[in-house]
Amino acid sequence: MTLVDVDRERIRRINEGEATLQEPGLQELIRDGLAQDRLRATTELGPAVMGSDVSILSVGTPLRKGRIDLSFVRGAAEEVGRALRTVGRYHVVVVKSTVVPGTTQTVLRPVLEETSGMRAGAFGLCVNPEFLREGSAVRDFMDPDRIVIGAWDDRCALVLERLYESFSCPKLRTSLAEAELGKYVSNALLATLISFSNEIAGLCEGLPDTDVETVMGSVHLDRRLTALHEGLHVPVGICAYLRAGAGFGGSCLPKDVGALRAHARERGIPTRLLDAVAQVNRHRAEIIVRLTGQLLGSLRGRTIAQLGLAFKPGTDDLRDSPAITILKRLRSSGADVRVYDPVVPSSGDPALRRVVLASSPEEALEGVDAALIVTDWPQFSEWDWGSLSSRMRQPVIIDARNTLRRTRLPDHILYRPIGRCLGSDG
Ligand code: UDX
Repeated sequence: MTLVDVDRERIRRINEGEATLQEPGLQELIRDGLAQDRLRATTELGPAVMGSDVSILSVGTPLRKGRIDLSFVRGAAEEVGRALRTVGRYHVVVVKSTVVPGTTQTVLRPVLEETSGMRAGAFGLCVNPEFLREGSAVRDFMDPDRIVIGAWDDRCALVLERLYESFSCPKLRTSLAEAELGKYVSNALLATLISFSNEIAGLCEGLPDTDVETVMGSVHLDRRLTALHEGLHVPVGICAYLRAGAGFGGSCLPKDVGALRAHARERGIPTRLLDAVAQVNRHRAEIIVRLTGQLLGSLRGRTIAQLGLAFKPGTDDLRDSPAITILKRLRSSGADVRVYDPVVPSSGDPALRRVVLASSPEEALEGVDAALIVTDWPQFSEWDWGSLSSRMRQPVIIDARNTLRRTRLPDHILYRPIGRCLGSDG
């Protein structure tokens, strides 16, 4: 297998056995591949295509001005197409990048046909989306729920089915557009559940004697969400997305909901539900910052320890992280913010310029008016809050991820989770 990238430094590091992003198991996978001579990395795309039977396009499709930017994937298809002129045998091009429905058929196929001088069919064309989560990408790949193979024709579908022969999960053969759309719909469903839970949290915050955790707990026990297996209640995975919090972020959910809405809008197709999903998510930061201000009387001149920066625990990824939006809002409301994250390094996002990054919980909490949890790192519930709170000017915790819900906290701490009515606790 040959990995191709335009970034020379990245290629050099991979060839030296280094994973260029934080992902459990990735480094070992690269090292094993190199040691067994089954993997190499290069910047030379042409020879890599010529020496293989399948090319997988997995370049980025970032969101620009609300629409996905296809320039990278189009550029990669052009280069692969040019290489196909000299391959001299049947070769399958697989689109793994997330692209809006119709892209492979109407944008990439013509590019490949023009640059290769062949018609689709003479080369294979498939869409094979990935459904990997950051932090468990290697495991998700090795043990997938399903493999979706969108295919131009039977011939190329069979090549991919053979490639994935050793995987025992269901393999679904679809049209190119269904495979493209399926990826968006999968992420749109997760985003919808998160916004739904956050809306219910808002309801609970306004209705006396209600708590979102109890309400959603009763919903989760529906047998369609929690199976009964040999007398035991086994929640299905989707329940993990029915938890209120600071909203969804990361490189996929916000981008994919945005791209799907824009794509539908261009075709005059209404997406009322997804519009609301995005709107609910956009308001999370404002709601959390307002709640913090209400608890402290005002944010101006207050010092807040913001706990968490990553868009979710287990990663150092700041892309579209709700924590960054919250940080900016806190600062623009006049608060001094001290930030602590167990993993995220000090450099990177411009939002972190002139922000104090604490290197320990003690440093983060010293003399602050409140601690605000915005990423649900499990470490936070293991901290000794009794002793840490004695360092704070006021022992106030706002938990925008409900991370400490099940942690016993000393009585003197004013603990404010998400989705509990302000008037209903002491
Ligand atoms: C997601 C999909 O899960 C994966 O299938 C797809 O291939 C890529 O996009 P990922 O972006 O790694 O994966 O993150 P995920 O674990 O799904 O979390 C996304 C965001 O939703 C995070 O910001 C997380 O904090 C938030 N989230 C998740 C909630 O706010 N509430 C929840 O109940 C669950």
